Amino acid sequence: MDAHRVTFGDWQTPPLLARAVVDVVARTLPEMPRAVLEPTCGVGAFLEAAAARLPGAELRGYDINEAYVVEARRRLPPDRSRVETADFFTMRWEEALASLPSPLLILGNPPWVTSAGLGVTGGDNLPEKTNFKGARGLDAITGSGNFDISEWMLVRLIDALQDRPATVALLCKTAVARRVIEIAHQRGRPLAPVGAWRIDSTYHFGASVDAWLFVFRTGVAGVDPAQEWPIFADLGATVPTTSLGFDGGVLVGDYGRYTRTRHLAGVSSPEWRSGVKHDCARVVELVERDGQWRNGFGEAVTLEPESLFPLRKSSDVANQRANPARRLVLTQSALGEDTDRLRLAAPLTWEYLSRHRAHFDARKSSIYSRGRAFSMFGVGPYTFAPWKVAVSGLYKRFAFSLYGPEDGRPVVLDDTCYFLSFSGEAAASAALRALRSPEAQDFFESRVFWDEKRPIRKTLLQALDLRRLTASLEEGTSTLATSSRTGS
Ligand SMILES: C[S@@+](CC[C@H](N)C(=O)[O-])C[C@H]1O[C@@H](n2cnc3c(N)ncnc32)[C@H](O)[C@@H]1O
Repeated sequence: MDAHRVTFGDWQTPPLLARAVVDVVARTLPEMPRAVLEPTCGVGAFLEAAAARLPGAELRGYDINEAYVVEARRRLPPDRSRVETADFFTMRWEEALASLPSPLLILGNPPWVTSAGLGVTGGDNLPEKTNFKGARGLDAITGSGNFDISEWMLVRLIDALQDRPATVALLCKTAVARRVIEIAHQRGRPLAPVGAWRIDSTYHFGASVDAWLFVFRTGVAGVDPAQEWPIFADLGATVPTTSLGFDGGVLVGDYGRYTRTRHLAGVSSPEWRSGVKHDCARVVELVERDGQWRNGFGEAVTLEPESLFPLRKSSDVANQRANPARRLVLTQSALGEDTDRLRLAAPLTWEYLSRHRAHFDARKSSIYSRGRAFSMFGVGPYTFAPWKVAVSGLYKRFAFSLYGPEDGRPVVLDDTCYFLSFSGEAAASAALRALRSPEAQDFFESRVFWDEKRPIRKTLLQALDLRRLTASLEEGTSTLATSSRTGS
């Protein structure tokens, strides 16, 4: 892709979308704005739409790209617009804002690029460190390694606005909007919610990211921090499908479902565990071909049966694939166990592992260099429990599966999966039923953010009190059973 385009996060908003956005925003405005500002205006799609929809408003735009500024000027009514070339990061926003009359509307579509993305293109479209020192929130964003440029810009604008009443309406990633809401909340200066409208970014920008038209007000006195953010399915929707809200300082994705399932919040018992981590798949993962176990190099492998365990990977678990012929060569039965024991206990395995030792030694993660030869992680008594309920941490769905012993051996999961372990089938089946219940699905769905890279995390799974849920479901079933017996 064009490096210049990536560096400047340059995805110009199509005029149709800009018009639809300005229509939605205009409907939410308490009064006609006297000024519309677009901080990174590009060729001015939003200002042009605002010129038509919000007559009388003074239009102000800035962009780093001079050619865009020239084009934007050409598109706008000269008597009430001013567009200038400026770098957002060095711009004196306090002064620019002070020169604009109220009511003020800030509109736009800040650059779609992360600091890591800039690293790839060699671009340096970043804030100068001295520019934000001391500004709480901004240094935290920049200090976080990889951050969205638009997140930094939004927080910078909120800072520059101080207590100035304004409506801010921007297209941005849903994750950026959520983080900005959180930052303002943590600073004790919550933004006044207007709403968020889902944008089909694939259709409009050819970019597959979850994005919103994100609208809020600044400078509103006494904002209730518990106030919810209505979320609309698209720009045409007038009734929200869900809402965001805070609970104990934590931002929650679907507030309605969240509060309905709050009684299930607690700590899961048994504990959710991750599967086995080894980073040596070609050696330790075997598949069956032509009646033989074969490794990732295609070599036929014959080992002591005690070293082999039926293996399920994320794709098996998420797609509920039945019995794939896959085995894991497990080198340890506990964290840090001396693998030398295999010399005598499993000589074929020892010889096989030794022959491929270079692959183990080349593993990049430092956790391995500190451990024993052939060491693995995520191994403990739970690994050998005969019954497990598992979910994939890679796929974006709460699809739980039950695994019992195969060929008398416990099934093990890879490190992209999470699982609960049980000694008996009855408890495992009850847990599976509970996890597949609408209550559990509501609990998880209201707390998950699907646009995150790995939305299903241990902390989320662990937050559901499984015992309480199982008990309440059993109570419900027995109440039902009693009422159907008594005919009530
Ligand atoms: C996603 S585009 C959106 C343009 C316009 N707002 C629109 O919606 O059509 C981002 C814009 O930000 C501009 N930009 C990128 N980095 C900038 C910076 N540091 N200062 C000012 N403008 C910048 C780009 O030139 C580009 O026009």
